[in-house]
Amino acid sequence: MSFIHHTNTPREVVIHNPMLSIVFERFGMVSTTNDVPLRRIDKRQCPDVNFLVEVLRAFDQPDGFDPSRFHNFSTYIILDYLYRTHRYYVDKRLLEIERSIDSLTLAYGQDHPLLTLLNNFFSAYSKQMVKHIKLEEDTLFPYVLHLVELVETPGMERADSVFGNYQLAAFAGQHEADELDTQLGNLRQLIHDQYPELTGTFPFMILSSQLDAFERDLYIHECIEEEVLMPRAKELERQAFG
Ligand SMILES: [Fe+2]
Ligand SMILES: [Fe+2]
Repeated sequence: MSFIHHTNTPREVVIHNPMLSIVFERFGMVSTTNDVPLRRIDKRQCPDVNFLVEVLRAFDQPDGFDPSRFHNFSTYIILDYLYRTHRYYVDKRLLEIERSIDSLTLAYGQDHPLLTLLNNFFSAYSKQMVKHIKLEEDTLFPYVLHLVELVETPGMERADSVFGNYQLAAFAGQHEADELDTQLGNLRQLIHDQYPELTGTFPFMILSSQLDAFERDLYIHECIEEEVLMPRAKELERQAFG
């Protein structure tokens, strides 16, 4: 039984679990001062509050992800969340982590081997994330929207010229291989193992909690893509093309 319901306010939700503030942030909400029950949040701010409740519950569960909790939501609502979350990662989370690395540089100097490790990791990781997001937004998401249109609009022609021989199966293989979430956990573990003397310091603790929250966030994001969106896209493809 989950603590989180649509009768709770964002402030109550983040008192229960402070990490959940990052879910509200992508909907433009400052949760710590928001006393409006979730069910009364404006549709322009959050198009489906029940979806938001399920996402908050998924973040709040210590492990596992249950895709069946998301089966009743429309493809548009799922894509809205994914697009919104991409923007949030690029505009906010990556920049926050960069700032934490800057604080560590101030504390230990850029010649410290930890800073070399962090700078090398993050310049490659940020590029990989931007590429991963671009691929989804340029190909997968428009393709899924096209499939929805095809299935819902009798007589509509397949837009071969736009999507060519696009294949969901090929996309899925590449998508899983990126492992954006587990890379962050591995980095955190590596720092713990190699620089145990730094792990109790304030700038490191901030970075560590950011990596922890981002890893959880990405895990859920990728689960929604792989276990909710992809099976639905395959079913739509079957309906559209037989
Ligand atoms: Fe994504
Ligand atoms: Fe992804």
